[in-house]
Amino acid sequence: AVRRPHGTADTVPHVDGARLLRRIDRFSRIGGAEDGGVTRMGFSEADREARARLVSEARAAGLETSVDAGGNVFISRSTVRPKSPARPRILIGSHLDTVANGGRLDGAYGVLAGLEVLQCLAESGTVTGCDVVVVAFANEEGALFPQPFWGSMVLAGRLDALPSEPRDHAGRPLREALALAGGDLSDLASAVWAPDSVVGYLELHVEQGPVLERLGLPIGVVDSITGRTQLTVEVTGVAGHAGTSPMEGRRDPLVAAAEAVLSVERLAREDRLCRVATVGWLEVTANSPNTIPGCVRFSVDIRDSDSAGLAAAEQALRATLADLAERREVRIAIEVAVRTDRVRTDPRLRQEIAAAAADLGLACEAMPSGAGHDAQVVADIAPVGMIFVPSVDGVSHVPAERTAPEHLTAGAEVLLRTVLRL
Ligand code: GLV
Ligand code: MN
Ligand code: MN
Ligand code: MN
Repeated sequence: AVRRPHGTADTVPHVDGARLLRRIDRFSRIGGAEDGGVTRMGFSEADREARARLVSEARAAGLETSVDAGGNVFISRSTVRPKSPARPRILIGSHLDTVANGGRLDGAYGVLAGLEVLQCLAESGTVTGCDVVVVAFANEEGALFPQPFWGSMVLAGRLDALPSEPRDHAGRPLREALALAGGDLSDLASAVWAPDSVVGYLELHVEQGPVLERLGLPIGVVDSITGRTQLTVEVTGVAGHAGTSPMEGRRDPLVAAAEAVLSVERLAREDRLCRVATVGWLEVTANSPNTIPGCVRFSVDIRDSDSAGLAAAEQALRATLADLAERREVRIAIEVAVRTDRVRTDPRLRQEIAAAAADLGLACEAMPSGAGHDAQVVADIAPVGMIFVPSVDGVSHVPAERTAPEHLTAGAEVLLRTVLRL
């Protein structure tokens, strides 16, 4: 039998779908372009504007807000204490930052739905068994500062895996950008949550793939989140004049990088060492038509549910790059931006999400996530659950990213019901 949330069915509060949709619309204009794309890279000016807007809208709703040293924004009905909460608490949220020219929903949807849930609980005076805390994790995408999952890694205490003086691709220090966002690089330890300080973390997100749409389902219950390794590769050669330097003896890092890009594709496509492998970012210096480049940097993103597969793919790539460096007489340096294994969501939270969907008469199905999420990092310290809603045409990280309004509202309803069941 389905356990009813607190109160009888007709006293259960409902989210204000129209208010949520309006809010999503307002936030999509922060860093928004004509074509519907959003560029709100972590710790950029647009990101700061979105964070400030979140804080002001939460306060206008009578809620309390705070920012931790890692730059994560929290919203709650009473003051958030990282170390020793007086009552059990549930964390719900996602991230407000986006990739370059991404969509309006990836991340922001989960944060704004979290705010809607909290606002709805506060307005209806609903007493919950746990304190509900909404979080907007800082720099989940790592688009500007190449440390994806920055905020959740801080919260989960993975400080050793973070660089001590992070910089963006142009060499600008995170220290300053973080301070502008209300954080403090010297005090990250104060932002770490103890493993027993949170009963569960729930993240509502657009699927970003085609599965739910194909199945005709409004809700997905995530059972696992893909493992992922992201590297930044720097190839240094010898710059020169395109017209006067003979082909013989050139040490062109871009030609070397071109070979490297093909070998990244091969990892997944031919060698099947991992599920997918992508080079999505590449920067050429000097980037001038009549100059042989001196330096090229690019990202490598490889994903698989099997950690052995991920490790094998990384190892194979490192061997290929070493060989390439020798053959083309260039220097190749590799930095690890992030390494995370596949993570399973919590069985009990999965059950509660499915029961919440059933309460609402919404069909759902268990499914894996091929995208990365803060939930996979928070899983270090707490049980995590994820709710997916369908993505139109299965696309994301592009301006065309969309989800039907009724699905956006349904996801928020399921989030609210799940919170009430805990
Ligand atoms: C998330 O944005 C990812 O890259 O999977
Ligand atoms: Mn994303
Ligand atoms: Mn996301
Ligand atoms: Mn992401």
